[in-house]
Amino acid sequence: MHKYFLRLRDLSTFVFVTIIATIFYSTSTVAADGKTIYDANCKSCHEKGVGGAPALSDKKQWQSRLEKGIDGLVEIAINGIQGYGGSMPPRGGNPNLSDAEVNAAVVYMVDLVR
Ligand code: HEC
Repeated sequence: MHKYFLRLRDLSTFVFVTIIATIFYSTSTVAADGKTIYDANCKSCHEKGVGGAPALSDKKQWQSRLEKGIDGLVEIAINGIQGYGGSMPPRGGNPNLSDAEVNAAVVYMVDLVR
C-alpha cells in the first residue's frame, strides 16, 4: 500500500513538472523567436523589399501600415495579402508557422520600423 502511494505521488509530481516545463518552454520560445522566425521566413522579401514588400530598412513604407495595429498586421500576415506592388502568401509561404509564430515575427518587424 505504502509503495503504491509513493508511485502515485511520483507520477503526479512528474506530470506537474512536465506541464509547468511545457508552459514555460512554449511561452519563452515564442517570445524569443521573433527574429529567428523572421530570418527564416520573412527576411527574403522584407529585408530589402523584394517583390513590393515593405522593406524593414524603410520606415516610411510602414507608417500607414502601422495604423492597422499589431493585431491587424498579424491577421494580414496570417492570411496573406494581394497588394498593388506585389503579393504576400499566407504566413509568408510557410503553412507550418503557428499564429503565435507569425505574431512574434510581426512584433519583431514592427519594433524595428516604428
Ligand atoms: C514572398 C515574399 C514575402 C514573404 C516571404 C513575406 N512577405 Fe510580408 N509582404 C510581402 C509583400 C509583397 C507585402 C506587401 C503587400 C501589399 O500591401 O502591397 C507584404 C506585407 C507584409 C505586412 C504588412 C501588411 C499590411 O497590411 O500592410 C506584414 C506585417 C508582413 N508582410 C509580414 C510578414 C511576415 C511576418 C512574414 C514571415 C512570416 C512575411 N511577411 C513574409 C511579401 C512577403
